[in-house]
Amino acid sequence: MACWHFTAFLYTIFHAVTFLKFSSGADTLLPNQTIVNGQTLISQSQIFEVGFFSPGASANSFLGIWYRNTPDVVCWVANRNYPITDPEGVSLAIARNGTLVISSAGRVIWSANSGRVASNPILQLLDTGNLVVVYEAGESSSQESYIWQSFDYPSDTRLPGIHMVDDPDTGTEKYLTAWRNPDDPSPGNFSYRIENHGLAEMVIFQGTTKKYRSGQWNGLGFTGISPSLRPRYKSDLKFKNDVLVYLSEIYDSSIVERITIEPSGIVQRYSMNEKKDKWNLLYSLPRDPCDNYGQCGPYGICSTDKTPTCECLKGFAPKAQQEWDWSSGCARIRPLNCGDGDGFIGVPRVKFPDMLKFLLNTSMTIGECQAECLKNCNCTAYANPYITDGRSGCLIWYGDLIDIREVPEADNKQIVYIRLPVSELESSNNLEKTKRNKKMPRKVRLILVAAGVVFFCFICCVTLVIRRLKRRARRKNEDLELPLFKLSMIAAATNNFSCGNKIGEGGFGPVYKGNLSAQEEIAVKRLSKTSTQGLEEFKNEVILIAKLQHRNLVRLLGCCIEREERLLIYEYMPNWSLDYFVFDETRRKLLTWPKRFDIIMGIARGLLYLHHDSRLRIIHRDLKTSNILLDANLNPKISDFGLARTSGGDQNTDRTKRVVGTYGYMAPEYAIHGKFSVKSDVFSMGVLLLEIVSGKRNRGFNYSNHHHSLLGHAWLLWQENKDVELMDECLNDTFVESQVKRCIQVGLLCVQRFPKDRPVMSSVLFMLGSEGVVLPQPEEPGFFMEGSCSNSTENPIPSTGSKKGSITITELEPR
Ligand SMILES: *[C@@H]1O[C@H](CO)[C@@H](O)[C@H](O)[C@H]1NC(C)=O
Ligand SMILES: *[C@@H]1O[C@H](CO)[C@@H](O)[C@H](O)[C@H]1NC(C)=O
Ligand SMILES: *[C@@H]1O[C@H](CO)[C@@H](O)[C@H](O)[C@H]1NC(C)=O
Ligand SMILES: *[C@@H]1O[C@H](CO)[C@@H](O)[C@H](O)[C@H]1NC(C)=O
Ligand SMILES: *[C@@H]1O[C@H](CO)[C@@H](O)[C@H](O)[C@H]1NC(C)=O
Repeated sequence: MACWHFTAFLYTIFHAVTFLKFSSGADTLLPNQTIVNGQTLISQSQIFEVGFFSPGASANSFLGIWYRNTPDVVCWVANRNYPITDPEGVSLAIARNGTLVISSAGRVIWSANSGRVASNPILQLLDTGNLVVVYEAGESSSQESYIWQSFDYPSDTRLPGIHMVDDPDTGTEKYLTAWRNPDDPSPGNFSYRIENHGLAEMVIFQGTTKKYRSGQWNGLGFTGISPSLRPRYKSDLKFKNDVLVYLSEIYDSSIVERITIEPSGIVQRYSMNEKKDKWNLLYSLPRDPCDNYGQCGPYGICSTDKTPTCECLKGFAPKAQQEWDWSSGCARIRPLNCGDGDGFIGVPRVKFPDMLKFLLNTSMTIGECQAECLKNCNCTAYANPYITDGRSGCLIWYGDLIDIREVPEADNKQIVYIRLPVSELESSNNLEKTKRNKKMPRKVRLILVAAGVVFFCFICCVTLVIRRLKRRARRKNEDLELPLFKLSMIAAATNNFSCGNKIGEGGFGPVYKGNLSAQEEIAVKRLSKTSTQGLEEFKNEVILIAKLQHRNLVRLLGCCIEREERLLIYEYMPNWSLDYFVFDETRRKLLTWPKRFDIIMGIARGLLYLHHDSRLRIIHRDLKTSNILLDANLNPKISDFGLARTSGGDQNTDRTKRVVGTYGYMAPEYAIHGKFSVKSDVFSMGVLLLEIVSGKRNRGFNYSNHHHSLLGHAWLLWQENKDVELMDECLNDTFVESQVKRCIQVGLLCVQRFPKDRPVMSSVLFMLGSEGVVLPQPEEPGFFMEGSCSNSTENPIPSTGSKKGSITITELEPR
């Protein structure tokens, strides 16, 4: 504020003394002043700045608006298509009639006006980032007094207050277009816009080809976006005849955020950090492979938690022979009957198919909608597009259904009914067969409904009783869905748990190698007997965990519960664990860069599955190289997941008294306060990343020039822009520099001190996998100040067994 007063003061002085001279630092420009190269207007609270700049390596100059604290982030460019080749003679002025003019050496390069003529105009840069021409100096700053504003001409960035518009009535369209490349702000091929065919959705286009769509607006949000991902800022939406035509955000000076479409076509949302000097990436679109337009082809449905991610809708089968080729999508198993004998199957919680050929009627009921669909043989599906209370409407699709994805947390009213021949419906369990709806008298309908309710209750009771009986029977027969192994058998397989068969020791107990037969090798984890969990709960947990299946998780084959023993039986991994390779002088050479990158991506996918995609949200709590096992082809598999649950760890609270983990991998808030969350796993993931890239352990390595750990070392190199030096030398022949740099940057983002600054796993995976995405700048890592020799708690740490001495498993009582 003081600064502003001072600036205002200077401004007054200048005007009193010299006319026609413009002082940098003011936020307004008068008709008799100009801005030349090097001079700028600064918004009142010092947030935005407007002036001439040259992007990247370009020699051309443009008039742009940027953030004063991060001048590299330009959010608007005036003369995108008219580069200034000679920045020396350039000037910006406002004519007396209110027209903005950029001229160079007397030649007009660019001008802008709204057609309205002003009487005594001024140009002003507002704290919102809007550059406005005010009709008359001194007039109150309201929208009406602006005869021109930059917010009406968005570039590649949407700030709160900038509208995206698609109004079919007036033909008005406003959208973002990406820069051609980082050196050239002229409009490139990618755009991000609101598309409106009676139902609005957000779309990323490359030229006229769709790359991503958000799914239709359903009254609460877009059908393809999970409710938990809905924005925290206040949207500003305008509807015309019930149709969303205009989308913006309400400006709030305490939230500095922006949405930018990058030259690579990826839309990113950023938030300014508290110190207001760096940007954190909140999300990118597309978020995952299922967001890519038409990923699974016609009649395919994409879900990130399945492998492969594509499946056919019920009643359809893949067209192509090869399992991996989904571009041609799926085809009907049995043809439609068209006349009588077609029905529908409801598919809930999905992003609705794209509206290529469709009919929308906002007053039809869902019953009328179905009847309308059955009338036309080209109709393939229908739905009520609105999920808001009691609202009816009808959307009918003709022809191919494309770009459907699962949206796990979506409202379960979000159902699309897919048309199938009755024969197909009958063969499907989930059938929701629908008779042609003949009008019945109201009374009959009521009676039927009542009868239905009674019948339903009856069925419920019967199922409950049956379930009880079954459970009882199960208790007797120990008839678990998971194979139960006999203790005698496991004892025989492991030489009676002999020391020679012991292959490791984890936080929850020792691990033995066993041979069930000559071919079948297993790994047996013997849980320590500290568990307080009841037998029934233990079994339930194990069954749940056995259902977690992902190619990057070690598979649980079964368990054994006899007497005091609780054993978990896993598939055996012939190549042991990652630490056995990555930290070994000779074996490390087997891990070339492409292999290491594969391993990193695999671990990230496995962890994403545990955190977000599986039915249970599992926080691993002890992620480290020795818990990453390698199969015969060196594919990574996470082990020890879910153990915190089965061993009775207190998984329901996010604070635990019993800290299980390994120093060097534990996030500060977990090691010190016992607080864990998905973000403490992300910290461990970051350590893993840096260890895999560098081939060095986070702890226990001494550097000649400082006393920090690997994290500290990486941070110091990063700050000096020498990050690539972190890389393991044995990768010199195989590495891809951009990938290595990306891995290091993502690693540093993961190990940031504050959990809220660390990305979630979906962003980690996205950032690792996407070339050309601008990554946020990391803050100092947690444990940086502590160095490598001091422990991070004031309490002494009792540490329990470790085989090689290199692994430290610790348990401690937090303060
Ligand atoms: C410039 O404009 C200001 C405000 O309209 C006015 O006070 C001043 O006299 C003008 N100076 C010249 C040289 O026209
Ligand atoms: C405003 O003035 C400028 C320069 O004096 C001129 O080029 C332009 O045509 C005028 N615009 C209107 C709308 O009168
Ligand atoms: C834009 O698309 C056209 C045609 O598809 C292509 O020739 C051109 O290279 C693209 N430009 C950019 C900047 O990608
Ligand atoms: C919508 O459906 C209703 C009922 O079938 C019909 O009366 C109306 O004309 C339809 N509206 C449009 C725009 O087709
Ligand atoms: C169905 O689609 C075909 C080809 O697109 C078209 O020729 C035909 O008229 C359509 N039938 C109806 C009833 O709309």
